[in-house]
Amino acid sequence: MQRIPAQDGKFNLQNYESMREKFSWEDVKKHFSWNTTGKVNMAYEAVDRHAEDPNKKDKAALLYSSPDREENVTFDALRRQSNQFANVLKKHGVQKGDRIFLFLPRSPEFYAAFFGILKTGAIAGPLFEAFMEQAVRDRLQDSEASMLITTPELLERVPQEDLPDLEKIVLVGGNNETSDKYIDYDSEMKAASTDFDIEWVALGDGMLIHYTSGSTGKPKGVYHVHNAMIQHYATAEWVLDLREDDVYWCTADPGWVTGTSYGIFAPWLHGVTNVIRGGRFSPDDWYGTIDKYNVSVWYTAPTALRKLVSAGEDVVKKYDLSSLRHVMSVGEPLNPEVITWGLKAFDLRIHDTWWMTETGAQLIVNLPSLEIRPGSMGKPLPGIEASIVDNEGNELPPNQMGNLAIKRGWPSMMRQIWKRPEKFESYFVNGWYVSGDSAYKDEDGYFWFQGRLDDVINTSGERVGPFEVESKLIEHPAVAEAGVIGKPDPERGEIIKAFITLNEGYEDSEELLEDIRQFVKTGLSAHAAPRELEIKDAIPKTRSGKIMRRLLKSWELGLPTGDTSTLEE
Ligand code: WT7
Repeated sequence: MQRIPAQDGKFNLQNYESMREKFSWEDVKKHFSWNTTGKVNMAYEAVDRHAEDPNKKDKAALLYSSPDREENVTFDALRRQSNQFANVLKKHGVQKGDRIFLFLPRSPEFYAAFFGILKTGAIAGPLFEAFMEQAVRDRLQDSEASMLITTPELLERVPQEDLPDLEKIVLVGGNNETSDKYIDYDSEMKAASTDFDIEWVALGDGMLIHYTSGSTGKPKGVYHVHNAMIQHYATAEWVLDLREDDVYWCTADPGWVTGTSYGIFAPWLHGVTNVIRGGRFSPDDWYGTIDKYNVSVWYTAPTALRKLVSAGEDVVKKYDLSSLRHVMSVGEPLNPEVITWGLKAFDLRIHDTWWMTETGAQLIVNLPSLEIRPGSMGKPLPGIEASIVDNEGNELPPNQMGNLAIKRGWPSMMRQIWKRPEKFESYFVNGWYVSGDSAYKDEDGYFWFQGRLDDVINTSGERVGPFEVESKLIEHPAVAEAGVIGKPDPERGEIIKAFITLNEGYEDSEELLEDIRQFVKTGLSAHAAPRELEIKDAIPKTRSGKIMRRLLKSWELGLPTGDTSTLEE
């Protein structure tokens, strides 16, 4: 087996075993001002604390660029802008605990609004910019959001007639609406004071909701609390290896949990300069961003890294990437070939990290001090107890495959599934949080990811629930029934494949299939649209009417079909 030793001299190396022994979450708490003042708010720790420090207030918090805009925002400017936004929210009646959603492109306004929300004690709900009407409706309805911050263009995808709780809409980039339901961002910000009394909260109070998919039902609202900052802080130190003068870049969108936990909280809790790049991915754009800003710590995803590998080494050579010290990956299995390529192209190890929307922060990681075993997700973070358990929650011996599980109670753990307590409890068995992933642990304690145990699809690192896609598909007039699976794909990890049956009067044709694909793409979101569609005479179901996706997958991949005793006649 290939093993890659730690790169001495590059990191604050800490011996893993002794770190595990010495580590305590209590020690991490000492870094926060609330530990002495008792006043808790994530926004204070991530923004205002640095803005109050004369040495840091004029330091760049945000280096923002997109193809048509460029802006640097200091910690003090971010403090003032988020105060202004908090005042706008207060003026329009926002209260602690309200759900305020953001449906915005990655932009400086997003970050000002985001911290403005937290400063009022409200709960922020970031939505991915590419969501279409159905995805927006599901999330705003379920969360009973009272306010939304969006742009005039994205407003078209907000089905307001279906959202009775939505009282106000803040428009960034111009307000041509006549009703007083709409608030103009620019003029109200200008009029608002840059002073604001932060609403102090309890560590267990709500801060953030991220919707994510399971194998059944609508997306679920994963509810995170301010306490999560303890783990964001610790992982930024030990896993991201962040230091004062680093320039950090996390490529994830804040509509997903990586884009908040590690695109916002982790760097800013440490007062580190954070690069945000808008626009679309291209190898030149990405390498150019590292070169231009002298990015030193980079957190990205296997799907992007695989595209960079395909783009070849000549593109790498066009840019000066010598600022890079540390590279990490998350979201899907990191292919050993990508690690090998990283050593060649950057002379750096790429460190895989494992966690989930529900876990709020990294749990199983390749720490800088650990030897990397390509293909392994690494070892549990100090302070985290991870194991492989059977379905009853009994621990299994090394090298045996089972449920990847974490001992309940780490700081950044979700505290609710919004309005669905039974769903929340269903994650836990015998004191373990059961992830839905299968894995094994080797004799030396390295964890190896094997796959999902449920039907959740991971396409280009994005989590898609088959039920959502199936529900959208059957809204199309031609589609009678639909079954959706993830099909292995070398670049995207998985692609979405849908099997459908047609209603009476519809004929199989290329145009019809394309029309159905577009229907999902424009109704739900581009990443949820099936790349492959196949018409069947029937969709296999159990006698109780559940779609047997497993069977569809076995057929597709030519695998043994296993137990089909519950298959309907
Ligand atoms: C699922 C969680 C919060 C991270 C972004 C995705 C898969 C995540 C890895 C990894 C193999 C991984 C798992 C997990 N996953 N990281 N390093 N190796 N698989 O968060 O959308 O909640 O998805 O992503 O299957 O359960 P998410």
